[in-house]
Amino acid sequence: MSTINAIILAAGEGSRMKSNIPKALQQLSNKTLLQYVIDAVTPLNANLNIVVGHGAELIKNAIDNQNINWVVQKEQLGTGHAVQQVMPDIDNDSICLVLYGDVPFIQSATLSSLLSKAIETDFSLLSVVLENPFGYGRIKRNKTGEIIAIVEQKDASESELNIHEINTGIMAVKASLLKSYVDKLTPNNTQGELYLTDIVEIANANNVTISSFICDSASEVMGINDKNQLAELERLIQQKQVSEFMTNGLGVKDPARFDCRGTLNFGKDCVVDINVVFEGKNELGENVTIEPNCIIKNSKIGDNSDIKANSIIEDSTVGNNTTIGPFARLRPESHIGNNAKIGNFVEVKKSTIGHTSKVSHLSYVGDSTIGDGVNIGAGVITCNYDGANKYQTVIKDGAFIGSDAQLIAPVTIGKNATVGAGSTITKNVPDESLSLSRNKQTILNNWKRPIKK
Ligand code: UD1
Ligand code: CA
Repeated sequence: MSTINAIILAAGEGSRMKSNIPKALQQLSNKTLLQYVIDAVTPLNANLNIVVGHGAELIKNAIDNQNINWVVQKEQLGTGHAVQQVMPDIDNDSICLVLYGDVPFIQSATLSSLLSKAIETDFSLLSVVLENPFGYGRIKRNKTGEIIAIVEQKDASESELNIHEINTGIMAVKASLLKSYVDKLTPNNTQGELYLTDIVEIANANNVTISSFICDSASEVMGINDKNQLAELERLIQQKQVSEFMTNGLGVKDPARFDCRGTLNFGKDCVVDINVVFEGKNELGENVTIEPNCIIKNSKIGDNSDIKANSIIEDSTVGNNTTIGPFARLRPESHIGNNAKIGNFVEVKKSTIGHTSKVSHLSYVGDSTIGDGVNIGAGVITCNYDGANKYQTVIKDGAFIGSDAQLIAPVTIGKNATVGAGSTITKNVPDESLSLSRNKQTILNNWKRPIKK
């Protein structure tokens, strides 16, 4: 079989995005538009050529792949001109698979089908029939149904605008033919560009039969030119994904208000309430409940745990039978044990909290190692930072930290030790002891409240 040269066109600015970020790097779910196209091509074992221009360096830096032949198109003179730039690097006997960096949801299976057609006919293009073809190039066929030309929206006549079969931009052409055709292009159109689509007419004039593969999914070949289309495809991707999750048993209160930008594994009987956003790689055990408005990123949550409303969990793990929130924040590297509780307005950072331990209200726990069965009272702060360096707090099993205590790190609270409420602890507290650091209470019996003058 011939070598396949994938050519991805991604040099355009994407002016319709009205953005400082090049179009190829606009984000859809958890990936850039261009990354989707690369991922669709990867299983085909093709050589990968990407044409960049606008924001070339940004794009090269954002894409982590050593096997790409990056070709720079200095001026963006059209899709045909973009292909011209790559042709010197392409072997004549190969098949070129041209893709657009702004048609992100194309699937590998469709590309394979298109390529098998091109092996039969040397020139095959992927089209789709759309109810609303606005903005796309229209496929013109003769009376016997053969493809004779593609006419762009901006150049189309009234009757051509009524054609519903459109050009997806994706085509597979024998390299030697593609080379000769792109050399013949002229900027004879409204936009004064070299249109790749004009090669269809040239091929036709040379009696080369163009086969087509008609894609049956409109979303797969949707071109993303502006933020409306970006949001539309985002929704379609999310819908498709959440429907797969539900088929596999995930309980979702409202699939229209569910977002997973990445991967999610889950056990049986998990329920996700509205407006929850999962980012990156997440894992839920069995019977996990996520209440409304939570953000969960690269985290793992154990069986029977409950993440209450408005909580944020990032790069952390939560054990089994544990509750988090409402309004809790687990910052990176927090590890909460089983049967534990992190209550409202509690922030935890880079800390381990043992089994059955509780931090129920209004606390900051940072750079700490907390054992099992520890009770942290309301408003306790681990003072981990002296303005220059961070220090560790260690709280051993069974300790009780009274409300509003400040633990000035580095400091260790011993096993079953008690810290009195309101204490500022600067020295280690021995096992089984009570530490207090606060003034004795004074009582003034004859005191009167000031009166407003
Ligand atoms: C293009 C097609 C149109 C098709 C539609 C499918 C042409 C002339 N038109 O129109 O028939 O229906 O895509 O989505 O091909 N690019 C470059 N260099 C350039 C110009 C563009 O690399 O000089 C890249 C862009 O970055 C983009 C792709 O080519 O990824 C398509 O360009 P765009 O301007 O979006 O073309 P459309 O008007 O959408
Ligand atoms: Ca486009």
